Amino acid sequence: GDSETAGAEAGSGSITVGFSQLGAESGWRTANTESVKKALTSANGFDLTFVDAQQKQENQIKALRDFITQDVDVIAFSPVIETGWDEVLQEIKDAGIPVVLVDRTVDTTVEDPFATWIGADFEQEGKTAGEWVAKNAPDAKVFELQGTLGSGAQVDREKGFDAGVGKQVVGKASGNFTRAEGKTAVEAALQTYPDATLIFSHNDDMALGAIEAIEAAGKVPGEDIRIVSVDGVRDGLQALVDKKINYIVECNPVFGDQLAGLIKKVAAGEDVPKKTIVQDQAFDQTTTQSVVDGRAY
Ligand code: AHR
Repeated sequence: GDSETAGAEAGSGSITVGFSQLGAESGWRTANTESVKKALTSANGFDLTFVDAQQKQENQIKALRDFITQDVDVIAFSPVIETGWDEVLQEIKDAGIPVVLVDRTVDTTVEDPFATWIGADFEQEGKTAGEWVAKNAPDAKVFELQGTLGSGAQVDREKGFDAGVGKQVVGKASGNFTRAEGKTAVEAALQTYPDATLIFSHNDDMALGAIEAIEAAGKVPGEDIRIVSVDGVRDGLQALVDKKINYIVECNPVFGDQLAGLIKKVAAGEDVPKKTIVQDQAFDQTTTQSVVDGRAY
């Protein structure tokens, strides 16, 4: 495109990218944003317009339409929920701008809606969490602390977890992937599901909110109520080392360089794989303080 922002500073040969990040709801998201910004620099050949949607789909749709108006070379976005994108994706397609999906996925009737997607295997993350529960807490009654309802991360983690140990789940509620809402949801759950002995939290931030709620109720997190979580941000790993969380399945947010490589290829019209899965690991309570201290985010 001929975006006016691709001026002297970025150099005339740079790739203009509009990136719509869904929000800043978690430590994971902050690390992901940093990684993306660090990779899509003018020194690396990019002219980036970055917009934070504050977890509101309407803000994201507006940002995407602005990118069409700017006629950027590539649109990248991390969709807050899976559905509701048909119209704007069609508009982007009609404008001939390639889409790179980041982190979360879409559910759309538009044909061939994106060039490529990079992110984690959320279903596998849920499955791995469920395998830990099946092995280490087969009698536990589970409260499932869900992420943003309708998001790929919530839908698929729940699918993977419930496929294995769904019978152990006694209740569910969403904490919208934030610490504050995770705390509120668990305060309520302690009343509604007093028999729950384990929480499966769809991310670390909500797990940290859960710890606050459990301690406020005079119970011991990690013992009276065990916690299994997803992400592996430093605060989460610290709680694991402190024995307040029992197990964490990693979701790795640091893939800015891989994303930059994909965007370059897409902008050049080269072939790219339809999906790139970011590799994850898992952490149990044998994790040491040095792992926490060495964590970059
Ligand atoms: O989509 C990835 C998820 O979104 C992360 O696990 C969570 O922390 C974030 O809010």
